[in-house]
Amino acid sequence: MNQKYQSVKGTKDLLPAETRKWQFIENRIRTIMHHFGYDEIRTPIFEETSLFARSIGEETDIVGKEMYSFPDKGNTSLTLRPEMTASVVRAYIQHHLGEQSSVTKLFYIAPMFRQEKPQAGRLRQFNQFGMESIGQSNALCDVEIISLAAEIYRSFGIEYELKINSVGDSQCRPKYREALQKFLRSVYDTLSPESQKRCETNVLRVLDSKDERDQEATMNAPSIIDFLCADCKSHFDLVIQSLDAVGIRYVLEHRLVRGLDYYTKTAFEFISNNLGAQDALGGGGRYDNLIEELGGDPMPAVGYAAGIERLAIVLEKKQFAFSHESTFLYIVGLDDESREFAFQKALELRRNGITTEIDFAHRSLKAQMREANKLQSRFVVIIGDEEMKKQTAVVKTMASGEQFYVEFPNLLSYFDSTK
Ligand code: HAM
Repeated sequence: MNQKYQSVKGTKDLLPAETRKWQFIENRIRTIMHHFGYDEIRTPIFEETSLFARSIGEETDIVGKEMYSFPDKGNTSLTLRPEMTASVVRAYIQHHLGEQSSVTKLFYIAPMFRQEKPQAGRLRQFNQFGMESIGQSNALCDVEIISLAAEIYRSFGIEYELKINSVGDSQCRPKYREALQKFLRSVYDTLSPESQKRCETNVLRVLDSKDERDQEATMNAPSIIDFLCADCKSHFDLVIQSLDAVGIRYVLEHRLVRGLDYYTKTAFEFISNNLGAQDALGGGGRYDNLIEELGGDPMPAVGYAAGIERLAIVLEKKQFAFSHESTFLYIVGLDDESREFAFQKALELRRNGITTEIDFAHRSLKAQMREANKLQSRFVVIIGDEEMKKQTAVVKTMASGEQFYVEFPNLLSYFDSTK
């Protein structure tokens, strides 16, 4: 017996029943992105490894443990993108996108790759929708991004909790990091081994450890909010005030630090209590230093990205009613001549935008009617030798069972007008 293959661990086939739902989701996301003035960008799925290492940060889980990296034939290390912000910034700099307007607003819907331990809501190839607003430090840009994410969830009727924080900037964060390190030294023995390591490498991440030992030990840790410099503080206040003004509810979460190093000032996450352990619908924030760090002119920016699988899980749980275009018309041919005619007619109708299906298996009238039913076809056109002689088809409305006749030359105009 020949070997049968399975999809690779942590990857998933999307079969037709699901792709229909995904197309619905993606179309809606695209429409809302356009309403907010965001245009789509598509970048290659791999980049030079150092692009991600430098932007996401050497000491992060993503870069340290999760990247799919490989040398190409010229021995350059390449990596399947674990996220898009770095790629978007690379493209923004490379193509001088900033020269075209004072703010560059881009969105993407694309697959990402992280070699994590697969579990519900966590895959090795997963899909994100995301958006980046590059060029302005205005707090309203942060609020526009948050409002856009909120609008996408609202449009699907998804409930969420928005957690928001400021992680400071290169002026104030070092002071906070020092204070936190000092505090953690005093509770060092009670921390998990992972967090003990992080005290040296990526101390802020100790705060969002899910380990109970760490949560207890850091209960009285200093809060970043008390360390923010005047600029970060006023930016954060403005974001909060504007969220209030547009009626978006949030929870201040001063332990929220995010798992990527490029953030400055605003950091936020949309959480769903329908997701289990992997409860983040998505996350984002400001990254005012990243463009300069990747060789561009200094340029502030803010963005957000979210898992589409997680959105789909929540929609499935709440039994969201996906509407999709089902088959409109099924043409039944009863003998060779009428089947040939059905095939030609189907092509003509399809070319005119009418979703039409026919039988290829030479099945009986009954079997073809069953198939039309399964496809939820609205109409069935029946053609046999009698109909061929009269050049008139029997048309059946599936919902009511009503039957009537339409002459062959009038089929297109009839269905075009009932579309
Ligand atoms: P992130 O928090 O790493 O941020 O990922 C954003 C979202 O992608 C997560 O909240 C989750 O919904 C989804 N996600 C991440 N990993 C997986 C996985 N293994 N399986 C399924 N879903 C996953 C970023 O990627 C940043 N680039 C967001 C951003 C954009 N910040 C500024 N602009």
